[in-house]
Amino acid sequence: MTQSLAIVRTPEALTEQVDAWRRAGKRIALVPTMGALHEGHLSLVRLARAHADVVVASVFVNPKQFGPTEDLDRYPRQEARDAELLASVGCDLLFAPTVEAMYPQGFATTVSVTGVSEGLCGGARPGHFDGVATVVAKLLIAARPHVAVFGEKDYQQLQVIRRLNADLNIGVDILGAPIVREADGLAMSSRNAYLSTTDRAIAACLPQVMAAVRDRLEAGAPVADALAAGTAALLAAGVSSVDYLELRDARSLAPLEQLSGAARLLVAARVGATRLIDNMAVTPR
Ligand code: PAJ
Repeated sequence: MTQSLAIVRTPEALTEQVDAWRRAGKRIALVPTMGALHEGHLSLVRLARAHADVVVASVFVNPKQFGPTEDLDRYPRQEARDAELLASVGCDLLFAPTVEAMYPQGFATTVSVTGVSEGLCGGARPGHFDGVATVVAKLLIAARPHVAVFGEKDYQQLQVIRRLNADLNIGVDILGAPIVREADGLAMSSRNAYLSTTDRAIAACLPQVMAAVRDRLEAGAPVADALAAGTAALLAAGVSSVDYLELRDARSLAPLEQLSGAARLLVAARVGATRLIDNMAVTPR
């Protein structure tokens, strides 16, 4: 039996608890999530533990970051299981607010980050990063952590969060954590649960094709050729559609026509009706 985890449900209660920890000289880490936790999320909690005395995780399926035709209603919600998993990896507090507690009547503020949020998922999911930036700003302000941990799985999101943290002088140390993968290389995601057995097998082509494209780029292949071959390989492997397969500067996310400095290969593709994203570092030799 794992110990039960303390849960708070309002930003005010969260702030009260973390303020008490701060007064006691504790270093606080925050790990924001939307729940349906898997090993990828738990790796963030472990990293947070290594950087702080107390770890707060949040589980909130944020309606503001879902488009009107997206999976908000069917997004998996399993709080009791999530709380157990969090306790098992040493999380100290779960912040699990209701939508009303986060966005009460009259809520009227949007945090919008330009530049890094444009194109890629920002192009395919209009308004998505405004929703992410707004909720993450609220979480960082309410939890006042010293450090917050986000996964490189959502690479563009990580850059958006770094930008908002710097621009708004929030002053949190933002840590990026490596992508945790299944045995066949598929990046762990709460959305993998939507995949049928056939689609799950097809999905494994994503990291394989990306690794092949990365290798070709690092061997000096022209960027446009390597990306076109990658898109063709994804479709040939049974992917339904490719939202994007792009090479970007690793920090600014500016599009790259040639591999010169640290770069990132990013993909979003649909397998059946499920949209999957992944990314990999590409380093010139
Ligand atoms: P969610 O998709 O639940 O992810 C929560 C955190 O876990 C994110 O920082 C994400 O990058 C990280 N993560 C997910 N899968 C991972 C994997 N396989 N390896 C490493 N890290 C992984 O991202 C969100 O929620 C939301 O947008 C949020 C930031 C909570 C704002 O609502």
